[in-house]
Amino acid sequence: MDIANLRRDYTRASLDVADVDADPLRQFDRWLHEAVEAQVPEPTAMTLATVDAAGQPSARIVLLKGAGPDGFTLFTNYLSRKGHELAENPRAALLFHWVELERQVRIEGFIERLSDAESDAYFRQRPLGSRIGAWASPQSEVIASRDALEQRFEEATRTHGDEPERPGHWGGYRLVPQAFEFWQGRSSRLHDRLRYLRAGGPGWRLDRLAP
Ligand SMILES: Cc1cc2nc3c(=O)[nH]c(=O)nc-3n(C[C@H](O)[C@H](O)[C@H](O)COP(=O)(O)O)c2cc1C
Repeated sequence: MDIANLRRDYTRASLDVADVDADPLRQFDRWLHEAVEAQVPEPTAMTLATVDAAGQPSARIVLLKGAGPDGFTLFTNYLSRKGHELAENPRAALLFHWVELERQVRIEGFIERLSDAESDAYFRQRPLGSRIGAWASPQSEVIASRDALEQRFEEATRTHGDEPERPGHWGGYRLVPQAFEFWQGRSSRLHDRLRYLRAGGPGWRLDRLAP
């Protein structure tokens, strides 16, 4: 297979300073709505990039569970690889790629933990199997086998029953954004890129970047 010659020209849309909201959070909301309406698969799936104490980056997909003036929320295991990395270095980046819309959004900032009350509120909304799974899976640790995992799940089901409490090691993070980039694919690789940086104070500085 000749992957070097797999390419597509992007022609769906354009993006100009005059088109976008002065507030990148509102602009993000607009694009997320458009992704949901366009029925892109997993519109809330985003790459979360973290960096460990030695400077080694790592990335994985997680689901966005809220986006508002305070930032972007996600839920995970605080003792996972990403949890340890965020404890060592709270700087992180998020990346959305909505392929069908020929769009990418990059977000950078710092991460804080949600309050226990906020994590409890979301945990209660999860399906029972996911709540049990949060007890059963020591996320990112080496485990002996699939069987061992399923056994842990059965044990957790017996121990925690129908109304499991949220494990203390499971909860939410909020990424507080410092920078955004909205990318719209254009023809001949002359893509549109608009970057917002926090301007010190409530406002944002908006610039066009070269593709
Ligand atoms: C579509 C998709 C959604 C996912 N959503 C989450 C999520 O919301 N939270 C989570 O902890 N892991 C989620 N995962 C699994 C992560 O990608 C990853 O395997 C896990 O969090 C362990 O990462 P870590 O070892 O770097 O901590 C998702 C994976 C995919 C492919």
